[in-house]
Amino acid sequence: MTSSTSDARAVTILTTFAVVAASAAVVVVALRARESSRANSSARHERGERADVLRAIGNTPLVRVESLSAITRCDVYAKCEFLNPGGSVKDRVARRIVEEALESGELVEGGVVCEGTAGSTGVSLAMVCRALGVECFVAMPDDAAMEKSALVEAYGARVVRVRPVSIAHRDHFVNVARRKAESARASHGAGAGFFADQFENLANYRAHKEGTGVEIYDELGDALDAFVCACGTGGTLAGVGAALLEKNPAVKIFLADPQGSGLFNRVVRGVMYTQEEAEGKRLKNPFDTVTEGVGINRITENFKIMLERSNMLAGAIKVSDVEAVAMSRFVAKHDGLFIGSSSAVNLVAAVRVAQSLGPGHRVCTIACDSGLRHMTKFWSNEYLAAHGLTPRDVECGERLDFLDRDVQVTPARCY
Ligand SMILES: Cc1ncc(COP(=O)(O)O)c(C=O)c1O
Repeated sequence: MTSSTSDARAVTILTTFAVVAASAAVVVVALRARESSRANSSARHERGERADVLRAIGNTPLVRVESLSAITRCDVYAKCEFLNPGGSVKDRVARRIVEEALESGELVEGGVVCEGTAGSTGVSLAMVCRALGVECFVAMPDDAAMEKSALVEAYGARVVRVRPVSIAHRDHFVNVARRKAESARASHGAGAGFFADQFENLANYRAHKEGTGVEIYDELGDALDAFVCACGTGGTLAGVGAALLEKNPAVKIFLADPQGSGLFNRVVRGVMYTQEEAEGKRLKNPFDTVTEGVGINRITENFKIMLERSNMLAGAIKVSDVEAVAMSRFVAKHDGLFIGSSSAVNLVAAVRVAQSLGPGHRVCTIACDSGLRHMTKFWSNEYLAAHGLTPRDVECGERLDFLDRDVQVTPARCY
C-alpha cells in the first residue's frame, strides 16, 4: 500500500466519522426539540391552555343559500364547517376526542392516536395531534381521495391505505387502527396508544351537542323549523339534534342518506337494508356511491342515541349520486359555494325538507367540507364518467330539474 493510498483511506474514515457524528448530533438536537415541544405542550395542557390553532375551531359562519331559498321560498341555511382550520366538520370531533383522552389519561403526551377513517377525521386528528404534541396514525381505504392522505401526511402523521373490506374483516381500516393502538400499549404501556374510535366514541356526539348545535340555536333560535344532515358516524346529527331539541322540542330532525347506505331503511322501516345489498348484487369490492364520509351499513353508538330516543327523528330522505353531483354544480354556479360530496347530499335533503314543510320555513344543514378535498373524485368529470355519471348528470340549469320527482321525505318509524 502506498502512503498516498493510506492517507486517502484515513481521510475517508475521518470524513465518514465526521458525517456520522454530525448526523447523530442532528438527531439528538431534533429529538431534544421534539421532547421540548412535547414538554411545552404538556405544560400548556396541564395549565388548561389550548394550542392557539385549536381555538380557531368552531363558531363557523352560517350562510343563507340564496338560490335554494328563492326556489323553495324558505330560508335554507348551511353551516360552513369547511371554514374550520383543518377544513372540515371533523375538527370539532378530533379536538374533543384527543382532549378527553388526555384528560382521562387514556392518552399520554408522546403517545400515538390511531384512527380508521375515510379521510376527513384523519386530517383533523393529524392537525389536532400536532398542536397537542402527540403522534397520529391513520388507516384509510385506498379508494378515498388522494388529497386526504396527502394532507394527513403533510401534518406529519403516518398513513396506511388499505383495501376497502367489510367491517367484519380484520383488515378493515378501523380494525387496522385499533390493532395499532393495542400494539403501542403492549410495547410502551397504558396511554401510549389510543384508539380514537370516532364511530363509537361519544366524545364525537358531545362535540356537536355542546358546539355545533348550540351555535346553530344561538343564531336561529326557535325560528328554526328543521335540521337535516347525512350520517357517517352519526355524531353530527345526534349531537346537533339533541342540542336543538333540548331548546325547542318543536324542531324537526331529519336524516339524509346517500346511495348504498342502509340507514334510511333502518329509520323508516326498522330494517338495516340497502338495495345494493340484495342477493346477487353484492360486489366483492363494494362500490355504491361517489360520495365520501356519509352512509353506513351498521348502527354505531353515536347513531344509536337517535334510535333510543323516541321520536327524535322526524323522517329520512334518500339522495342519489346524480342529485348530489348536480347540486354541487348548482350551488357553485348560483351561490359561489364550492362544496364536497356530503355537503351536496345535505343540500339536496334540505331542499326536500323545505319543500315538504312549505314556503316560509327555515331549514338548516351542514356544509361539511370544501370541494377542494374532492378534486380528483367528486369534482372530476372523468372520474364521474368512469362511474356511470354522464356529462348530462353533471350539468345543472337554472332550476332544480335534476331532483328525482319520485323521492319524498319519508316519516321515521324508529324501533
Ligand atoms: C366530509 C364528511 N362529511 C360528513 C361526515 C358525516 O358526519 P358524522 O360522522 O358526524 O355523521 C363525515 C364523516 O366522516 C365526513 O368525513
